[in-house]
Amino acid sequence: MPNLDSLLHEIGRTAALPFEQATTLPTGAYTDPAFTALEIEKLFAVDWICVGRTDEIPEPGDYLTHRIVETPVMVMRQADGSIKALVNACRHRSSELLSGSGHVAKIVCPYHAWSYDLTGDLKMAPFMGKHFDKSGVCLPELRTDEWEGWLYVTLDADVAPISQRLGSLSQRVENYRTDEQVNVHRGNEVWDCNWKSLAENFTESYHLFSSHKDTLQPFTPTQGVWCEPGDAGWNIHWMDTSRPQDKLWDDLDDATRATFPLMHAFPCHVFSLSLNRGFWMSLQPDGPHRVRVLWGVTVHRSVLPEDAEALAALKAEIATTFDAVNMEDRTIVESIARSLKSPHAAQGRLGEKERTLWEFWRYLAHTLGAPAPAGAIAAE
Ligand code: FES
Ligand SMILES: [Fe+2]
Repeated sequence: MPNLDSLLHEIGRTAALPFEQATTLPTGAYTDPAFTALEIEKLFAVDWICVGRTDEIPEPGDYLTHRIVETPVMVMRQADGSIKALVNACRHRSSELLSGSGHVAKIVCPYHAWSYDLTGDLKMAPFMGKHFDKSGVCLPELRTDEWEGWLYVTLDADVAPISQRLGSLSQRVENYRTDEQVNVHRGNEVWDCNWKSLAENFTESYHLFSSHKDTLQPFTPTQGVWCEPGDAGWNIHWMDTSRPQDKLWDDLDDATRATFPLMHAFPCHVFSLSLNRGFWMSLQPDGPHRVRVLWGVTVHRSVLPEDAEALAALKAEIATTFDAVNMEDRTIVESIARSLKSPHAAQGRLGEKERTLWEFWRYLAHTLGAPAPAGAIAAE
C-alpha cells in the first residue's frame, strides 16, 4: 500500500485529468486506513452532516439522535420553535441520554436519572448530596443549519453555513418544493463498503438499466440520464421519467413532472427528488471498509394520506420498495469493496453519464489537500 503522501499525489494527478480522460481514484482511496483517517479529520469532523429533516421534529420536545464521528448528538425542537443540537452524553458519567427519535418533556439520563430541560440545562441530580451545585451544568451545544427542509449539524465552530454553499443548488430544485415534503421512513444501517463507493453509486444513474432493470429502469431509464455541471459544494444529474407525475399544483410545468434530479451535497449527503417523493442518505465512514448509512424517504404533503390505515399502507409500500432498491445497490457496492482489496484492482475510465463522480473527486482532492500536478487547473 502506498504511503499517504504518494496516495495524495496520485489522487491529485487523477483529479486534475480533464473529464474526457477521467479515471477512477487510486484504490488506496478506498482501502487505506490512513486515508480514511484524513477524510474524517478534514471532512466529517469539520463539515456539515445531515441528521434528518426538520419536519421530523415539529413540536417542542420532539428529537432526533445521530452520531457524528465519535460524538453522540441530539437535535431538539425547543419551546420557542427553534431547533438546537446538543451533545447527547450526560455530564455526570457520560451515558448516552436519548436514543432513536421521539418526544420527551425533559431529557432524563437512563443511568442515574439526572434530568435536563430541552435547552440542555441540568435541572435535577438525585441523591448527589449537599456539596453538589448543579448550576452551570449543561449539555454542550453544537451548530445546526437548515436547507430545503434538511437539517445539518457540525462539530466545527467556524465552517461556513451549508445553506450558503447550497444556495446555488436551490435554484435547481425549487420547482420540486422540497421543503413541503415530509419524512415518512428512516433507516440506520451499516454496509460493508467504503463510504465513497455508496456516494458514487447514488450519484450516477448509468447503472439503472443493469443493476435496477426491474425496479427503476422501467420508470427512469438510463437512456434519459444526463449530468449537468455542478458547483464547488455539490453535483447533480437528471433523469427523464417515462411516466410523468401528476400535476400536484397548478403552476407546475411539464418538464418538472417528467425530470428528476439526483444530487450530492458534499461531503456526505446524497438525495434524489421527484414531485411526490424524495430519497436521501447521510453517510459516514466506519473505517475504510464500512459505511454508516442513515437514510430516509420523503413524501410531498399533498399526497400524504390523512387516514391512518392508508398512511400505514403507504409507509409499508415505501419500506418494501426502497429496501429492494437498496439491496440491489448494496450487493454491488459490497462486491466493489471486496474487489478493491485485490492487488489486481485497477483505475477504470469514466463514461459520459458519470461526470458527477469526477466532480466529487475534484472536490475531495481539493479539500483533502492533494497536490495538483504542475500546469493542472485546480478544482474550486
Ligand atoms: S451518567 Fe447520567 S446520571 Fe449518571
Ligand atoms: Fe442504484
